[in-house]
Amino acid sequence: MNKTVELKNLYIKAGDNTLVNKASLMIEEGEIFGLVGESGSGKTLTAKAIINLLPKGLTYSADEIITAGKNILTASNKEKKEHIGKNIGYIPQNTVFYLHPMLKIKNQIADGYIYHMHKTKKEALEKAEALLSKVGFKSPKTVLNYYPWQLSGGMRQRCNIAMALMNDPKLIIADEPTTALDTTVQRQVMELFKAINEEMKLSILLISHDLGLVKHYSHSLGVMYAGQIVESGYTKTVFSRPKHPYTQLLIKIIPSLEIRKNEPLTEIPGFVKDKGRDSNGCLFYNRCPEAMDICEVKVKEHMDDNEDHYYRCNLE
Ligand SMILES: Nc1ncnc2c1ncn2[C@@H]1O[C@H](COP(=O)(O)OP(=O)(O)O)[C@@H](O)[C@H]1O
Ligand SMILES: [Mg+2]
Repeated sequence: MNKTVELKNLYIKAGDNTLVNKASLMIEEGEIFGLVGESGSGKTLTAKAIINLLPKGLTYSADEIITAGKNILTASNKEKKEHIGKNIGYIPQNTVFYLHPMLKIKNQIADGYIYHMHKTKKEALEKAEALLSKVGFKSPKTVLNYYPWQLSGGMRQRCNIAMALMNDPKLIIADEPTTALDTTVQRQVMELFKAINEEMKLSILLISHDLGLVKHYSHSLGVMYAGQIVESGYTKTVFSRPKHPYTQLLIKIIPSLEIRKNEPLTEIPGFVKDKGRDSNGCLFYNRCPEAMDICEVKVKEHMDDNEDHYYRCNLE
């Protein structure tokens, strides 16, 4: 299987403070990969490192960052910008309010396409119209002439998705794309991502704190905790045989297949560690019902190559 993303041993720091510690993930061509974890666990920063958009003041290192066949670590700044602009569509967190309120949709949906693909405005608007129709608008011409405030949250998110598709990307990164939407619209938007994934064969990195949603829509997933991926693998495998106590607890607290609204994962007592993320021990130690003394100082990594199932825990 070809990979759309190969990320190995990513570290992100703010000065001496470790925010992301040795995160690795692989996204296969054509799959939806769910990155799930509580708020503050490092999902957004990990995605931003992949697309070279880390905020100023943060530093990172990694053994490998390959996206859509290109090694990002050895590429020049110009190459990176071009490659990412053409091949990766990004829907940042809170984009329901991301579109510029004073500009009509037609004056912002096509900018990236004109810039990266060297197209005329006319060509770009034709493409935008086709994509708006693809994401479910009955009269895309009318939508092009709207200001964002004339659209509902769900409609704006559809516009964002159309915008992310303009350059025929190999990968879409959608950061909490349905968090601000109510349950019915959330479902519709997720069904749209699913249809796009199936029809256009592109990969999707779906970031969410909602394990129910990730269970339903992803082929593979990574569970993040305090800046680390504590478990990853095919969604079916992880749900049928979760290995990490954190994953087991998460699975226990999601109502079966019911997609929940917007709640952070607060059912597990305690907080995600903010400091000391560079520890060699298990970062879930202070909240883990099965913690042993050893877990504070050391943790074992397991990789079952047959199943691509990874987890870090001292339990076998
Ligand atoms: N620009 C920044 N400077 C310093 N710390 C940051 C910055 N951005 C995020 N962080 C910290 O990094 C951690 C991970 O953040 P983030 O990736 O946004 O988490 P998530 O998306 O999982 O909610 C959090 O503890 C957050 O406070
Ligand atoms: Mg985030």
